[in-house]
Amino acid sequence: MAFPNKGSYYYCSVLCLYIIIIVANSLAFQCSAAAASSSNNNDQISTLVVNASIASRRRMPDTLFGIFFEEINHAGAGGLWAELVSNRGFEAGGTQVPSNIKPWTIVGEESSILVQTELNSCFERNKVALRMDVLCDDINCPSGGVGISNPGYWGMNIEQGKKYKVVFYVRSAGPIDMTVSFKNAQGGGILASTNIQETASEVSNWKRIGTTLEANGSSANSTIQLTTTKKGVIWLDQVSAMPLDTFNRVD
Ligand SMILES: *[C@@H]1O[C@H](CO)[C@@H](O)[C@H](O)[C@H]1NC(C)=O
Ligand SMILES: *[C@@H]1O[C@H](CO)[C@@H](O)[C@H](O)[C@H]1NC(C)=O
Ligand SMILES: *[C@@H]1O[C@H](CO)[C@@H](O)[C@H](O)[C@H]1NC(C)=O
Repeated sequence: MAFPNKGSYYYCSVLCLYIIIIVANSLAFQCSAAAASSSNNNDQISTLVVNASIASRRRMPDTLFGIFFEEINHAGAGGLWAELVSNRGFEAGGTQVPSNIKPWTIVGEESSILVQTELNSCFERNKVALRMDVLCDDINCPSGGVGISNPGYWGMNIEQGKKYKVVFYVRSAGPIDMTVSFKNAQGGGILASTNIQETASEVSNWKRIGTTLEANGSSANSTIQLTTTKKGVIWLDQVSAMPLDTFNRVD
């Protein structure tokens, strides 16, 4: 027994559970007895005997511990885990590249941006990374830029006045000028936005970028978008967004 002094507590828990089951069964039995008596007018008496003697107790196995948890409706990823981005490492489509990047979507037309996966991440055990070939430049790009968008797990719940830590890894042959924003999935209103600029030498190797966004509006159905209006090739990986307001804070 791991906690000998608590032995009686465990014995009691099992006994109590046992009693509850017996009582529940007996209630069910009484109900059916009542139903039976109303139909054939035949009174029946049930007796419940609980033997709570020390001699009839059962010892809890030392190996019985833990908790049952079932991942239903994103109760784990998208629930207990504060990560808002679904498939943040682009690994969900498997390691055969090019792979499916669901639920990520592409912002912009095919004539302005090409998106695919490659096996060149800086993370040895999660080799898939995203490659964006931005074909448009400045005024030739759509005004909101081109890039990628993630809806989280059935829409991110972004709340006005709350702060969100966004972290991602980026690499590029040239300088980058990107916008990271939370947008309302319905209507596209911007709830928070920040600009990320790095020189070519800073991102010639994978670089971790961290920023904090504060929402100026709320939507339970938001997306995160990483966009740019600068021509070039950008690799992205492990795009994460978490509320700062979590148990034990994630920052
Ligand atoms: C209760 O259980 C113990 C152990 O099985 C047994 O010795 C005892 O006779 C039982 N008592 C009654 C009232 O049935
Ligand atoms: C969120 O918005 C998208 C885009 O309009 C829509 O398809 C989806 O059904 C919405 N989800 C919820 C949970 O409202
Ligand atoms: C919220 O901030 C974004 C930019 O960060 C801005 O475009 C938008 O207009 C602001 N919305 C409100 C309601 O202030």
